[in-house]
Amino acid sequence: MLQKPKGTQDFYGESGYNYLNLTKYIENFMELYNYEYIKTPMFESSELFKRGVGESTDIVNKETYDFKDKGERNLTLKPEETASVVRAFIENKIYAENEVSKFFYITPCFRYERPQSGRFREFNQYGVEVFGSDSPYMDAEVILIAYKLLNNLGIKNLKVKINSLGNEESRKKYREALVEYFKDKIDSLCETCQERYKTNPLRILDCKVDQNNEVLKNAPKTIFYLDEESNKFFEDVKNILSFNEIPFEIDTNLVRGLDYYTHTVFEIVSDDSLAICGGGRYNNLVKELGGPVVPAVGFACGIERILKILKDMDKDKKGNKIDIYIMNLFDTNETFNLLNSLRDSGFITETDFKVKSMKSLWKQVEKYNPNYVVMLGEDEIKGGYLTVKDNLTKESIQIERENAEEYFDMNF
Ligand code: HAM
Repeated sequence: MLQKPKGTQDFYGESGYNYLNLTKYIENFMELYNYEYIKTPMFESSELFKRGVGESTDIVNKETYDFKDKGERNLTLKPEETASVVRAFIENKIYAENEVSKFFYITPCFRYERPQSGRFREFNQYGVEVFGSDSPYMDAEVILIAYKLLNNLGIKNLKVKINSLGNEESRKKYREALVEYFKDKIDSLCETCQERYKTNPLRILDCKVDQNNEVLKNAPKTIFYLDEESNKFFEDVKNILSFNEIPFEIDTNLVRGLDYYTHTVFEIVSDDSLAICGGGRYNNLVKELGGPVVPAVGFACGIERILKILKDMDKDKKGNKIDIYIMNLFDTNETFNLLNSLRDSGFITETDFKVKSMKSLWKQVEKYNPNYVVMLGEDEIKGGYLTVKDNLTKESIQIERENAEEYFDMNF
């Protein structure tokens, strides 16, 4: 039998309903903050992620789905959205339109990771990217959006962990400190980290193999290498978050698995499971990918991880969503006509395109649990009326066919 690829999922029925519901919720929520929707291609040139996310990151080094198309172009299914949005920002000269541009997206991403609970090879990210603001209020706004959205969904025990990597100068000093620290400890690192020591020592700190290695735990912390400007920026972000009652804790080990971050980095977890959300500021990426100097900040949340938490909380039950069920008892043509006219008037209406017995149609009613059941049999059609049953009170009345829309308008 043909099967879906490992690490992918089918969404249908309840899971399809929950997925769509969450994305609708996100869309409405983002309107409040005046963020514009952005959609970029599912694949990009491989070069973009090598330069954007970083060649020595696990994501680019081990996890991308790379392929050549028939024109011998090197392409990659996007493992994340930030690099793509930056590419679009530069290519479409969006920077020339407004001083500040704010985007949100909901998009599939692809990473060849070992599948486990909450970790897939195809997954969906909801995220935001803001360009053109170097204000610490923008870092706070972005963190606040992620926190409030998750909190409003009812997710408990949210923990916002933040750290700062500082500006270019601070990062340089920190890199030197790491090189010095690991100099006589290289043998205690995994093979990949021994390579990372030469290419990108910061990446050693988010190694999945060496995670519990004491040498890593005792490594120098970024915040002790922040210069005055970076320190002030971090203090400002923390003060704004506190003033606005967004609970957070400082995690000096947080460096994130992508190369582009400067200053603020953050993650949101619930009950210490996998991160639901990760993000931060990236003031150099637009320039590094060929654009002007434009500061930026953003985050991405894993949709599947949010859905899983909501499911574990039993919060994702598919509710009653059918307004009217028409029992097709005599003539499908008449039923189809009524169905469309009720739908045109804005009622969520269902029926069966086969004329069936009363008994089997009541089974359908049980399945759909509508607010109203309309019986459309021979008598109703010939008499030009409908028998309407309130599915809660079980009371029935007869109404003129031509008054049906008005009747339901008054009752919904
Ligand atoms: P990231 O931490 O790699 O950051 O991914 C963001 C979120 O995507 C994670 O917190 C997690 O919820 C979800 N995620 C990642 N990998 C998987 C997976 N294999 N299966 C299921 N969910 C997953 C980024 O991607 C950055 N682009 C975030 C960002 C935006 N930074 C600035 N702007």
